[in-house]
Amino acid sequence: MLQLPKVIGHRGAAAYAPENTLESFREARRRGATWVETDVKLTADGVAILMHDESLKRTMGMDRLVAETPRAELPAGVPTFEEAIALWGELGLGCNVEIKPCPGREAETARVAVDVLRRRWPVHLPPPLLSSFADESLAAAQAAAPQFARALLLDRFVKDWQQRAAAVGAAGINTNGKRLTAPWCCAIKQAGLALGVYTIDDPAVARALVGMGVDCIITDAPDVILAAVA
Ligand code: G3P
Ligand code: MG
Repeated sequence: MLQLPKVIGHRGAAAYAPENTLESFREARRRGATWVETDVKLTADGVAILMHDESLKRTMGMDRLVAETPRAELPAGVPTFEEAIALWGELGLGCNVEIKPCPGREAETARVAVDVLRRRWPVHLPPPLLSSFADESLAAAQAAAPQFARALLLDRFVKDWQQRAAAVGAAGINTNGKRLTAPWCCAIKQAGLALGVYTIDDPAVARALVGMGVDCIITDAPDVILAAVA
């Protein structure tokens, strides 16, 4: 079975530093995280970068779509996936790589991401976990590089969760911890899948979820949640 760390820093340590930046990963490490989560999408010219939103507006103050912006025109501070991997190698951080494609680029984003992983992932780090809300991205990742473990991301319970996970060979489910029910949690564990939840920053909620059987808490505040579930 897929072994997940108990705690993963969401977008680095998003409670303390700008999300998905190199500074956020350094902050996560300083606060005790051994793994981080990040969001990978493609620039106009097909470079894998770290960005959650389709637009650069919220995090960078630039009113432009990532998919329409070439790498050379990105604002400073947006890391490429390769730059981030190099830093994780230095810091000893594992990573849950969320493939977050812009619409229509589901398979292409996955193929570029796994190509970068194949070329750049440091051998001394634990193998990365790929995840996505896009089944098509996970299927493309499976076809291109089946050796990288995959988790299906879901915002809430859906009837066909097990079929969808099986269809892409997922070893885990990552879901919204605020909507997880005890019966579904049991069913996921009985199916032999690893279970991660996002984004949980409340220590009491984290403890309750671990008590329910959740393997991994993805949190903006890794120091707080590490202390809570120790
Ligand atoms: O990968 C877990 C979580 O990051 C999924 O949601 O919107 O924060 O990328 P989001
Ligand atoms: Mg994410």
